[in-house]
Amino acid sequence: MANDTEASSRARESSSAPSAKPIDYLVLERVSPQISLKRSAALDALTDVLVVGAFADGSLLPSAQALDSSSKGKLSALIKRGDLDPKAGSSIMLFDVKGAQAQRVLLVNLGARDKFNDIAFANVLNAVATTLASGSSVNVAVTLAEIDVAGRSLAWRLQQASRILADGGYRFDAPKEKQNGKHKSERRARNIALLIDEEVTKDLEFAVRSGQAIAEGMALTKDLGNLPGNVCHPGYLADSARELGKELGFGVEVLERADMAKLGMYSALSVGRASDEPCRFIVMHYRGAEHEGKPIVLVGKGVTFDTGGISLKPGEDLDMMKYDMCGAASVFGAMKTVARLELPINLVGIVAAAENMPGGNATRPGDVVKSMSGLTIEILNTDAEGRLLLCDALTYAERFNPDCVIDIATLTGACVIALGTQTSGLFANDDALADELLQCGTETCDRAWRMPMFDEYQDQLKSNFADMSNLGGRPAGSVTAACFLSRFAQNYRWAHLDIAGTASLGGDAKGATGRPVPLLSEFLIKRAERASAE
Ligand code: BES
Ligand code: MN
Ligand code: ZN
Repeated sequence: MANDTEASSRARESSSAPSAKPIDYLVLERVSPQISLKRSAALDALTDVLVVGAFADGSLLPSAQALDSSSKGKLSALIKRGDLDPKAGSSIMLFDVKGAQAQRVLLVNLGARDKFNDIAFANVLNAVATTLASGSSVNVAVTLAEIDVAGRSLAWRLQQASRILADGGYRFDAPKEKQNGKHKSERRARNIALLIDEEVTKDLEFAVRSGQAIAEGMALTKDLGNLPGNVCHPGYLADSARELGKELGFGVEVLERADMAKLGMYSALSVGRASDEPCRFIVMHYRGAEHEGKPIVLVGKGVTFDTGGISLKPGEDLDMMKYDMCGAASVFGAMKTVARLELPINLVGIVAAAENMPGGNATRPGDVVKSMSGLTIEILNTDAEGRLLLCDALTYAERFNPDCVIDIATLTGACVIALGTQTSGLFANDDALADELLQCGTETCDRAWRMPMFDEYQDQLKSNFADMSNLGGRPAGSVTAACFLSRFAQNYRWAHLDIAGTASLGGDAKGATGRPVPLLSEFLIKRAERASAE
């Protein structure tokens, strides 16, 4: 069996280059906008900028109407003149609006009135968030939750608005040197109030709070994803987990290479063998339930850079493979959201971290390894490494007697071909769990689509030399990857999200997206609500 002896690991540790100091890029300190909920008439809002809306046909939302009346038709006149760009999301800043306490008014074009659905709502708020982020206003009041969105409640509108406004101004800040022991942020904290004209209830308040907490989780996920591979290596992820645990009050365990070897995780270890940054297996324990309930377990693929190993990838866009730890980053993000909201659930976050490198001691195509489960694997392609990491994590998850296990991974290029960058691939061995997750994706505009895992596909994983191979061939590549994982997830309800297409974007918009933190958070919030109702 390919094995990682202690001697070889010691030799490598001593010869390895000093790792990038994690503190130079500490992404855990980020100033995010504070979102609040207020009952107030638009005219009375004492603020730097008041955001109101008008549809493309010129009709005004109630708050805009109130301003229009108090200012003798200022808003409708400028719309009539054609001063408001006809594109949905475009806006114009108005000064001296009579009757308004606000210093300025941002009038936003909502687009077509008859097509106003979830996506239109999200797009308009995104545009507003971008506009606000590029301005200098510190205090902002937004009335757009008053728009009717087909089939959506006020609580839904508030949660979405809160999340998008908090998240929309995201920008990856280049790391700054510490000054007086503190990282200096050039950003000012911003306060955004969502205005409603009805009573502020606990439910509505929670909607706003959860929206902001999801945005904070997303920001962490994006920050970790956007960090370069020479900084964000397995050890950096381990340090981040420890920091996060301290900040948010949950327990963190980090297994080093030798600990992993002791557990028999030779499949996972085979991935990081040739890297100077040894594998880490990170376990985070959040205990929010009053009783010792079965935990939900999240498992993230944390390949901090995927060269393909000996089955080396072609060079084009290879830098994008720093995003191969976005599954892990989404586990961190979801942990942050849950801890911020102090949800009454038990949650375990597992991150299997490794760097997939070629090298003199790298895993070779044809090598056979024994996984923690005892099943043997013929590694036909070292670029199919995600499943090699995840299978041992799935076996490890059994010890928690989980309610369910959800793994999140940038697993296959085939999933990008099947679903593009819009939709995550969902696989599950349990229909109820699959439906629950799909629903949460729809609720948060962070959608997934279920893919099949019929037994017929399992044949593609046959090996002449081991219990299975790690390669299913080109047809149905994301399905056979999921089938591989399913063999290690037979003792609990399990779902797998393939986020290869959705976790990051290339081109001009290059960057991590923070997905699927909204979907996961919604799932965990719903589970918490279910638990407290029982
Ligand atoms: N990390 C990649 C998958 C990936 C591809 C993520 C593109 C994001 C964008 C994964 O480890 C991989 O290399 N998968 C191979 C599997 C194949 C060798 C069976 C792939 O998709 O080509
Ligand atoms: Mn790969
Ligand atoms: Zn990979």
